[in-house]
Amino acid sequence: MAKTLLDQFELAKKSMPGGVNSSTRLNRAIGVPFYAAEGKGSHVRSIEGKDYIDMCCAHGAGLLGFAHPAINEALQKAMSLGYLNSFETEFHEELASKVCKAIPCAERVRFCSSGSEATMHLIRACRAYTGKKKIMRVEGHFHGYHELIYIGGQPPKDKFPDNRVKPYIESPGIPDEFAEFIIPIPYNDPFALEQAIVEHGHETAVLIMEPVNYNTGGIKPKPGYLELVRKLTAEAGIVLFFDEIQSSFKKSLGGAQKDFGVTPDVCTIGKSLGGGLPLSAFCGKSEIMDLYQPVGKVQHSGTFNAHLVPVLAGLAFMNEAEKPYFYPKLQELENQFHNGINQIIEEYDLNMVVPHHGARFNILLGRKTEAARYEETFCHNRETMFKFIKGCFDRGVYFHDYGGGPAHHGYSIQHTAQDIDTVLQVMEEVLADLREEING
Ligand SMILES: Cc1ncc(COP(=O)(O)O)c(C=O)c1O
Repeated sequence: MAKTLLDQFELAKKSMPGGVNSSTRLNRAIGVPFYAAEGKGSHVRSIEGKDYIDMCCAHGAGLLGFAHPAINEALQKAMSLGYLNSFETEFHEELASKVCKAIPCAERVRFCSSGSEATMHLIRACRAYTGKKKIMRVEGHFHGYHELIYIGGQPPKDKFPDNRVKPYIESPGIPDEFAEFIIPIPYNDPFALEQAIVEHGHETAVLIMEPVNYNTGGIKPKPGYLELVRKLTAEAGIVLFFDEIQSSFKKSLGGAQKDFGVTPDVCTIGKSLGGGLPLSAFCGKSEIMDLYQPVGKVQHSGTFNAHLVPVLAGLAFMNEAEKPYFYPKLQELENQFHNGINQIIEEYDLNMVVPHHGARFNILLGRKTEAARYEETFCHNRETMFKFIKGCFDRGVYFHDYGGGPAHHGYSIQHTAQDIDTVLQVMEEVLADLREEING
């Protein structure tokens, strides 16, 4: 008999803390991590042999779905070349020049593996460029798990708004001293932004933000807000840093900076870029990027930086995303999904909203309109969200759980109209069952 998810969990816990390699892989809504056996297109099969439509899509990295032919071909090519770890190749330049062409702020780019790495390395260059130390960051936004920035982003309700006085340290083990460098501000609040810059502009190296806040409630910038951010940071000599690890490639090749028409000084991109393999990048104006050694003095090195396997996968991803069918197809799926879910919300008069930008969306319970800032997402009921995810799971649709919050989900280029129909049917059944709880 096949092992159950629970059997595997018990086994895995013996050798890995919590049976996982990433804390959020425990899906608390289903009580175990999803132990996968195989992925194909838009579907993933568990080790129990059950098939699911995947609405996690590798937390946003699976924009090509599983086993995409272009990525398979890239992997074959890497194999035939002997992987060539730790060398530069002509493929690195090819990918770099494609990124510089696609992303408005990218005059230069460096590749690494994860989003956390990318934000860490880029913050260093921002500090070196300005000679200043502090980091202004926006509440609700997420930029990775390292000591520099895992502070003051997503404080629990009871630590709010104290977060603005003493930024909330998001994990034990991060010394309090790191919080002294962090200045949290609310999103979409021109007055708070102006105040913070007047007070702290002289000591602030960088303002980092997700242009679309997929990490808490799918909050989009209000008209004019990003333009104001651009203007005030430029005037104050603060580097404007868009963290596009999640937003890059979701709606267009140019990322949210292209979609909203505001160009930062620097940005990070990632997730989708690797076509399912670990690849991220940091890019920006050459006067900042050329601070890295061997041109300047800022250190950025690593044995596995820009490994050939993800670089070839990244090239395959870019080639695919550049094809004329790609973004129109994603747009069709976006229209189909959101027309469908909005009809369901209306028909059952549900107190919830599903904000979206491109092929990624959030589910926010407890309000009918999109939130504009972090604290407006406190209405979201985590227990109900767990039930929603479990209900969908039992019916063959996989949503990942990030602790029940108003987190992001999505689909890939290999999802079909039929997949979306099935997902909508399942969501309707589950939401109808939970109607009282959602509206209560
Ligand atoms: C906006 C943003 N920045 C940084 C990160 C960190 O990326 P990684 O998980 O690859 O370290 C994430 C991950 O979800 C993200 O969404």
